[in-house]
Amino acid sequence: MPRTKQAVVIDVVLNFDPASARTSTESAERVLALIEERDLTLERVLDTHPHADHLMAPHWLRERAGAPNAIGEKVQDIAELWRGFYHEPDAFHPDRHFDALLADGDTFEVGNLAFRVMLSPGHTLGSITYVAGDAAFVHDTLMYPDMGSSRTDFPGGSGAAL
Ligand SMILES: [Fe+2]
Repeated sequence: MPRTKQAVVIDVVLNFDPASARTSTESAERVLALIEERDLTLERVLDTHPHADHLMAPHWLRERAGAPNAIGEKVQDIAELWRGFYHEPDAFHPDRHFDALLADGDTFEVGNLAFRVMLSPGHTLGSITYVAGDAAFVHDTLMYPDMGSSRTDFPGGSGAAL
């Protein structure tokens, strides 16, 4: 937000190099560098959904930048599903990794911009969209046609819900 110099980031992920099986924070660090370069203050770290095909960065961003993070409340159901599906009982605990679990219809403000949370399942069972002003951050609910249609094949995905 140019006037208030407050910033929000959405769906920042970690990097993963399959050849070496290593993760890095290279992209997240670039995001923080851009925020610093533009003299902005990071107010919120938002996620629309947990990613079965990416490693998420909100926990790292919260630690590094001190900004609270948030995701949709149905991430609890997704975590439960994934714990069983991937046989990883301790892998993903949203209560530990997120400051706020947002429900459909929740609202919050950052600077002079009002955000509204809209449940938009299908890609995952708990995906949310952030509506702010005349923009909607729809995540993988809508993918560009030239880059493939949205995926509903991850655990908990549903073409009918999408
Ligand atoms: Fe996704």
